[in-house]
Amino acid sequence: MRKEKIDFVIERAREEDLEKLVPIYLEGYRGLEEYSYTHPEDVKSYMRWLWKRDREGIFVAKVGDKIAGFVAGDANWFSKREHKKVGAIHEIVVHPEYRGMGIGKALMEKVMDYFRSKGLDTAELWVGDENLKALDFYRELGFKEKGRYNYWVRMTTSLGNKG
Ligand SMILES: CC(C)(COP(=O)(O)OP(=O)(O)OC[C@H]1O[C@@H](n2cnc3c(N)ncnc32)[C@H](O)[C@@H]1OP(=O)(O)O)[C@@H](O)C(=O)NCCC(=O)NCCS
Repeated sequence: MRKEKIDFVIERAREEDLEKLVPIYLEGYRGLEEYSYTHPEDVKSYMRWLWKRDREGIFVAKVGDKIAGFVAGDANWFSKREHKKVGAIHEIVVHPEYRGMGIGKALMEKVMDYFRSKGLDTAELWVGDENLKALDFYRELGFKEKGRYNYWVRMTTSLGNKG
């Protein structure tokens, strides 16, 4: 689904980037509102929560000065299903204008490298069961479905570290 080549860089998010992520999140989840926050204030609080969980785990993709997408990873997450600490991917969003250009994949690779650097052996995420685009995206990256809870699908992948 690659559309065109584009130059982008992946950087660690700074605290002042957090509020710029709010409109990207809202835009990015258009049409998928059953799985997302819809009020800007709620999204802002969510960004603060992500930052508090793991401020080293949030990465932004930049095209020039503009943030095109972000991933929020968490290297401090204890998975009740895996019974151990895992790298949790709480969020990934690429602005619709910049999709299909490899940005999402690059963000995922960055956060998985970060998890490896923390000695984690498994990455885990939850995705909406009708979010087919994201399900395909994660499968393509090697994630496998491990179970469901209501309308959420749990997926994991091995990070190749001996944990
Ligand atoms: C899921 C999402 C992050 C993907 O971002 P992206 O930048 O478009 O993804 P990429 O361009 O890196 O695509 C990587 C691979 O995923 C697959 N993929 C991406 N978009 C796809 C689509 N629309 N249909 C099918 N496969 C797709 C392709 O196989 C692609 O492989 P390629 O590298 O050979 O092109 C983006 O669609 C998004 O922000 N969605 C809304 C928010 C969301 O659902 N987040 C996940 C919540 S759990």
